Amino acid sequence: MIKKINCTFSDNELLLLIEGGSPAENTPPEALVKSPLFRRADAVRREVYGNAVYARGLIEFSNYCRNNCLYCGLRAENSQIPRYRLTREEIVACCDSAYQNGMRTFVLQSGEDPHFSDHEICGIVSSLKQKFPGCAVTLSVGEKSRESYQSYFDAGADRYLLRHETANGGHYAKLHPSDMTAENRKKCLYDLKEIGYQVGAGLMVGSPYQTPSHLLEDIRFMRALQPDMIGVGPFIPHGQTPFAKFPRGTLNACLRLVAVLRIFFPHALIPATTALGVVHPYGRELALQAGANVVMPNFSPLSTRALYVPYNKKTGVDGEAAANCRRLRESIAGIGYEMVVDVGNVKR
Ligand code: 5AD
Ligand code: SF4
Repeated sequence: MIKKINCTFSDNELLLLIEGGSPAENTPPEALVKSPLFRRADAVRREVYGNAVYARGLIEFSNYCRNNCLYCGLRAENSQIPRYRLTREEIVACCDSAYQNGMRTFVLQSGEDPHFSDHEICGIVSSLKQKFPGCAVTLSVGEKSRESYQSYFDAGADRYLLRHETANGGHYAKLHPSDMTAENRKKCLYDLKEIGYQVGAGLMVGSPYQTPSHLLEDIRFMRALQPDMIGVGPFIPHGQTPFAKFPRGTLNACLRLVAVLRIFFPHALIPATTALGVVHPYGRELALQAGANVVMPNFSPLSTRALYVPYNKKTGVDGEAAANCRRLRESIAGIGYEMVVDVGNVKR
């Protein structure tokens, strides 16, 4: 049944799914997840992953970035945010806390910060792999050379997140300065695949100038790449970027894409992203009902968490990591899924 769904959609049918011919755009999200598209997505997800929700401890270890993506608050030219870096010891301490709270994957994320040399990243990865045997280390540190990716992999890194942002070259050029290209981003993703990482691609829904046919191209690109993880969240404008005045992506469009992705990528690890939780108090839970099967509780130190701001987060909602994690586990149980203590590898 899954195979059939995968093979038989024409571009027009796919566009209809993405755009949501029915139900209407203004359908409340709670009703939306009861519609046939979402029920189908949930059935596919249960067939492959049951009711398990995999959890990853997120550690945002540096908000320095040498790039200037037009949408992102961490862009180099934003001189209004204080910058920070965690030491190796601080990173390990965050992972300790994540481990105690049931995380068996650590996601180390930063801007493209040249201060962290390949040698240093390899050192961090290998000390985590030594200290937490059986756990997975995911890196999300941007575009690097193939040699760098290989060295992190040899040091023990298991997975790598690098959203492609948009597969369309023209659209990519509108979102990035001219020193960044869709070609290089795609090359990085293929390098990572070939090296042997579990690879995560992804995009923002409702990014400036995005059209439904861009989303179609994204799906076609990912059908070729076959990523193991797919991260999607709504675009949320950041006040100190050139895109400050653009509208945010809608929750409904995002949920619909999550559902379509689950149907087209039955085995993918699809996170219910933090950005979804920003646009709706139950955004993440709704995403889980729409086919997502991963959550990424934040284990960065409280003192730096407010400084890691690609987009404007709501203030005052970010409490202590262990308490957040417990609440999330409860709310996941409340909608009939289970946040499991598991390394959570992709099922192929
Ligand atoms: N809104 C939503 N997501 C954003 N990202 C960066 N800026 C924004 C924004 N304004 C996402 C990008 C990037 C990831 C680190 O965060 O997709 O890959
Ligand atoms: Fe840097 Fe990533 Fe933000 Fe681009 S999206 S400016 S690479 S942190």
